[in-house]
Amino acid sequence: MLKSDDGKTVSYWEASEDLIKKDSLIESIETDICIIGAGISGLTTAYLLTKAGREVIVIDDGLIGGGTTSRTTAHLSNAIDDRIYRIEEWHGEEKARLAVEAHTKAIDEIERIATEEKIDCDFSRLDGFLFKADDGEDDLDKEFEAAQKMMQVERVERAPIKDFDTGECLRFPRQGQFHILKYLSGLAKAVEQNGGRIFSNTRAIEWKGEDSPEVKTANGQTIKAKSIVLATNYPIMSKMFAKLPAYRTYVIGARVPKGSVEKALFWDTADPYRYVRTQEEAEHDVLIVGGKDHRTGQEDDANRRFANLWQWTKTRFPMAEEILYKWSGQFFETHDGLAFIGRFSNSEPNVYLITGDSGMGMTHGTIGGMLVSDLILGRENAWQEVFEPSRLATQSIKEAIPEIVSSTVPYVDWITGGDVSSVDGIKNGEGAIIRQGASKIAAYRDENGKLYQRSAVCTHLGCIVRFNSLEKTWDCPCHGSRFGIDGHPINAPAISPLGEIEESSN
Ligand code: FES
Repeated sequence: MLKSDDGKTVSYWEASEDLIKKDSLIESIETDICIIGAGISGLTTAYLLTKAGREVIVIDDGLIGGGTTSRTTAHLSNAIDDRIYRIEEWHGEEKARLAVEAHTKAIDEIERIATEEKIDCDFSRLDGFLFKADDGEDDLDKEFEAAQKMMQVERVERAPIKDFDTGECLRFPRQGQFHILKYLSGLAKAVEQNGGRIFSNTRAIEWKGEDSPEVKTANGQTIKAKSIVLATNYPIMSKMFAKLPAYRTYVIGARVPKGSVEKALFWDTADPYRYVRTQEEAEHDVLIVGGKDHRTGQEDDANRRFANLWQWTKTRFPMAEEILYKWSGQFFETHDGLAFIGRFSNSEPNVYLITGDSGMGMTHGTIGGMLVSDLILGRENAWQEVFEPSRLATQSIKEAIPEIVSSTVPYVDWITGGDVSSVDGIKNGEGAIIRQGASKIAAYRDENGKLYQRSAVCTHLGCIVRFNSLEKTWDCPCHGSRFGIDGHPINAPAISPLGEIEESSN
């Protein structure tokens, strides 16, 4: 099984569909459009541009869909996570309406592409239900009032969960769900049929726009292009980290008897909220439940979070028999609930970005493909201003400040001691930070006792990384960069590996 580079755990999608590997780029080339990132954002953009007859090259540092896209739960919703009433408060009614329209059209677009390209990706339409959590805000009235102005929504007595009375909740019709890796596999095939080229294991390390746009790869090739699209989860070589706090989220997939849970999307008002859907298998269904998010690198208690999700699940879905899958994923929040999609800057108008999925990566990624392809093709798009990357954060400063403080406090790790005093204190399968003079070492011992040591200094802006014992990665608590145990970069903003040190002989 080819697996994503994102960490040790295996998502349901990876377990049930092979990730696709393409050839690496081995020579410098020229093209019309170079897209960095072969997740849902990059491949949707590539699909729409190749369909319009443009010459496109897509590169990815791993496998097709092997980044954050493979860690989703593949909900498709137009009921924006941050709530419609907050989107209206932050952006005004007209822009909120356009944002809802964009998410609605994104679901339509996925359905259209899957139908036209005959992609067998388990796409289905279903209702979504938002209900009040015991430990959550009671804001259903406010949400209903705002949502009814711009989308289909109704109050219902309870969500259709057999053994659990949710109380009055909101029903959003015509939501969707699909199998993301089956969809990406079909999308990649369609891109190639349209003449596009896709290269995996090809890491972009540098780009420039202006008069002679080009992308440089870690292997020394140059891709000259008229337009560049940054469709990585976090746009490399950008300085948006203060506007894009990184989070980890946790997911369990439990066996339930066939048909025992209504096929629908469910989510509650807790913060962070829980989100639920089912996926059909031949002999049983899989109940997929996610939540328990935290800032990347700032907690390392995945087992407690999984146990909490399981306990919550068993209380509401007692038919859940056992946990079959556990995984975690990364997402980037914006301060105002909507992704950043559009031109990178005024001085580099031929570079585009799609980022800030805000927990709605499937629809935001698809909106990104639709909007950026329109911009490149010179078509009007009414959503341009709504998702404009240079927009001022409209969220109140009161709400943004805790995020900024949270990105700064971890620098204190520079003056603290290590987790252990020497590598002798590290057991097989564990990682720890060791102080060495003025600096710190990130040390990991694998299951066979082999020791890996790298500098613990994040190559983005110098925070000290922390061990993620679930995924066996080094995660940066400041802005969410992540590195493998051998130091290779997994998630930007950092794009260089953790520094080398002289390894001990253990
Ligand atoms: Fe910014 Fe590590 S991600 S310092």
